[in-house]
Amino acid sequence: MEIDIKPNQRKSIHGQWSSKIVFIFAATGSAVGLGNIWKFPWMTSEYGGGAFVLIYILSVILIALPIMIAEVLIGRHGKQNPVGSLKYLSNKSSTFDVTEIDSDLQRIQTKSKKYSNADDYTNWQLVGWSGMIAGILILSFYSVIAGWTMSYIFKAISGAFSGITVEDSKSMFDTFVGDPEKLLGWHTIFMILTCFIVSKGVKGGLEKSVKILIPGLFLLLISLAFYTYTLSGFYDGLAYMFIPDISKIDGNVILGAMGMAFFSLSIGMGSLMIYGSYLSDESSITNVTAVVAFADTFVAILAGVIIFPIVFTYNLDPSTAGPGLIFQTLPIAFGAMPGGIIIATVFFILLFFAAITSSISLIEPAITYMIEKHSISRPEASAKLGFLTWLLGIGTILSFSYAADLKLFGFTFFDLLDNFTSKVMLPLGGLLIAIFAGFIVKHNIIFDELNISNFKFIFWKSLVRYVAPIAVTLIFVNGLL
Ligand code: PHE
Repeated sequence: MEIDIKPNQRKSIHGQWSSKIVFIFAATGSAVGLGNIWKFPWMTSEYGGGAFVLIYILSVILIALPIMIAEVLIGRHGKQNPVGSLKYLSNKSSTFDVTEIDSDLQRIQTKSKKYSNADDYTNWQLVGWSGMIAGILILSFYSVIAGWTMSYIFKAISGAFSGITVEDSKSMFDTFVGDPEKLLGWHTIFMILTCFIVSKGVKGGLEKSVKILIPGLFLLLISLAFYTYTLSGFYDGLAYMFIPDISKIDGNVILGAMGMAFFSLSIGMGSLMIYGSYLSDESSITNVTAVVAFADTFVAILAGVIIFPIVFTYNLDPSTAGPGLIFQTLPIAFGAMPGGIIIATVFFILLFFAAITSSISLIEPAITYMIEKHSISRPEASAKLGFLTWLLGIGTILSFSYAADLKLFGFTFFDLLDNFTSKVMLPLGGLLIAIFAGFIVKHNIIFDELNISNFKFIFWKSLVRYVAPIAVTLIFVNGLL
């Protein structure tokens, strides 16, 4: 295939979002998920509260958001799966200008010549590959945790939380995760649902549902935050989250916070490249991504504002709860509040939907790759990749029971996957995407795609060229040593 240098009028073969609002909802659906409500409070407690939150917010603004813009831009221009889009842009950018004499017209003219064809292999494709693998690895444990959420919907309906004590809540959780058969059942159901939606095409199913779900989740979280305001531990919870203890900041905390920013905003692995490839050319990339990043951060902070007052009201120790933090704390509050059964049920249902809108974006890059590259149907691609992910998930399930003591470098299988994807794969993917957008892609392509003032453009470009790559490298090296 020859590279056309004409303005980009191509469309993704998978379709296009019907409006920019739908993109905002879909990308917010991808970003807002278990990461915000399950993982963010857990990480905040793991890394000592306010110090972590502060670094997290700085990472979102200075590192994650500029990379998010780059990712959406690459996707929208490439209009293919991430591997294809990176290849297309890399080849399209490798043109050079030659000045020659046109003997017929008797004048000097400048022509753009190409070094390569759109189909030529480039090493940048590897970034797309690593992203697809990261997506599958993340989904394999994400689905297990989403399974916990589904099970908690039914616990909530049955009234199991009514008047529950701190000890009972903890033992309910421990008994549940210690039962691999139950976890497997829920993990299986969640994976089937994910594959079913993905097999129908992300666009159709997602467009309608996210418009109701995302606002629903926002409203419920805000109401819950009003409830925790009435708890005696409200101010202690807020102080824990918002007053940073600077002495707690070390390489590990910074790496954890940066990794959390990548995970929560769904960047570094191609999800937003795919969503960007369905975005119409008229929508402003900087505006839509800013809205998504803000909404995502808002939900994470809100989740903390709900969880930590509960933690302090009931004298729990935030540093020891681990991944069970929200499943152990929230039932206590639900069990004590008026109308708790209904509120708890609605909460876990909405969390489940938030999880599924994220899970489909985790698998979509690999699905589009299989469809475009191997010419197989969407249902077939979904079934094959879904099975692979499901199989991997069994490792996570067992790491909460039979294989809890089986450790590699001190990590269980689940810890290993979680740490490796968030702290290594996503930041590395993000770093390469920043370098690609900052140095490799032709200036005019980016300038046309972004369509922003010179001042904003220079600001963004210095972030992706220098700030993000240098920060990620330093944090990475420092955190690992
Ligand atoms: N951002 C999602 C969440 O917070 C998880 C996710 C990570 C989704 C990476 C897509 C890509 O739950």
